[in-house]
Amino acid sequence: MKSNEEVVKLINVSKRYYLSSSVYVDALININLAIRYGEIAIVMGPSGSGKTTLVNIMSTLDKPTSGRVVIDGVDVTDADENYLSKFRLEKLGFVFQQYNLVSQLTALENVMLPMLLTGRYTKDEAREKARLLLDLVSVGEFMNNKPSQLSGGQQQRVAIARALANDPSFIIMDEPTGSIDLASSYLILDLIRLLNRAVGVTFVIATHNMEVASIGNRIIYLRGGRIMQESDLERIKEEFSKLRIDQLAVIKSYLRVLEIDERRLRRLGQDISDIERKRSLIDSLMKTI
Ligand SMILES: Nc1ncnc2c1ncn2[C@@H]1O[C@H](COP(=O)(O)OP(=O)(O)OP(=O)(O)O)[C@@H](O)[C@H]1O
Ligand SMILES: [Mg+2]
Repeated sequence: MKSNEEVVKLINVSKRYYLSSSVYVDALININLAIRYGEIAIVMGPSGSGKTTLVNIMSTLDKPTSGRVVIDGVDVTDADENYLSKFRLEKLGFVFQQYNLVSQLTALENVMLPMLLTGRYTKDEAREKARLLLDLVSVGEFMNNKPSQLSGGQQQRVAIARALANDPSFIIMDEPTGSIDLASSYLILDLIRLLNRAVGVTFVIATHNMEVASIGNRIIYLRGGRIMQESDLERIKEEFSKLRIDQLAVIKSYLRVLEIDERRLRRLGQDISDIERKRSLIDSLMKTI
């Protein structure tokens, strides 16, 4: 790992979307930004502020209208699609708003696919690793389901397992907990933290969610396609800390909901291991607050 070096650098990046020959939207305006190895960088901002456009450009899925994009020391601004698809496969992991799983493949096959495409794994190796990754994000039991047979949150977790398949040093996420329940989001946030701290994976995460933002060591706040001033960041941090209290209230209510469910399950003589699992996830999160 190359600490203190830049994994992505955007130089004077602008993106203009044309709706017709004379009508356009400036989604990004003159962005200068460097993400260093080992960071968890959070991209926040109101709807339409350019978050998705920014992470799409950082992940080479979209090209800027002007400016340069340098990833891992390589200027990829003018690279062709052949080069870029190999580059993405080997260097980057993605988890996007629309999960982009292959609908004809099972969860297991979706996670195996990026490994097989590199030609560096045997089918058996890819299968074994894919199983472990699906277990890691707690969807192992659904490995033979196709995406349409999975909930939104389960699909999201399969997408995370897939992003990890080729051990990327840089993972880009757009609303990683978008359609996920509280306990599963904590699982994913803890996983992000663990991968970052233990293995040094760099993350760029676009999100509206304050809880997600709280795991970042840096917040890039966009408004109207521009990065806001540092001084404004302080104000936003204050807003986070206020909202944090509400999050605690939500967690407390959720614990009460769990109590009710626990009583109900005990009355019916049913298994309560799911409740215990959720509680221990919440406990470990509470310790970090
Ligand atoms: N393909 C496109 N064609 C035209 N305009 C687009 C396109 N994609 C995005 N835009 C516009 O660019 C601006 C930024 O959009 P973007 O999707 O990056 O916002 P966002 O911050 O991700 O919003 P959200 O929080 O709703 O996901 C918006 O005004 C949007 O309407
Ligand atoms: Mg978006």
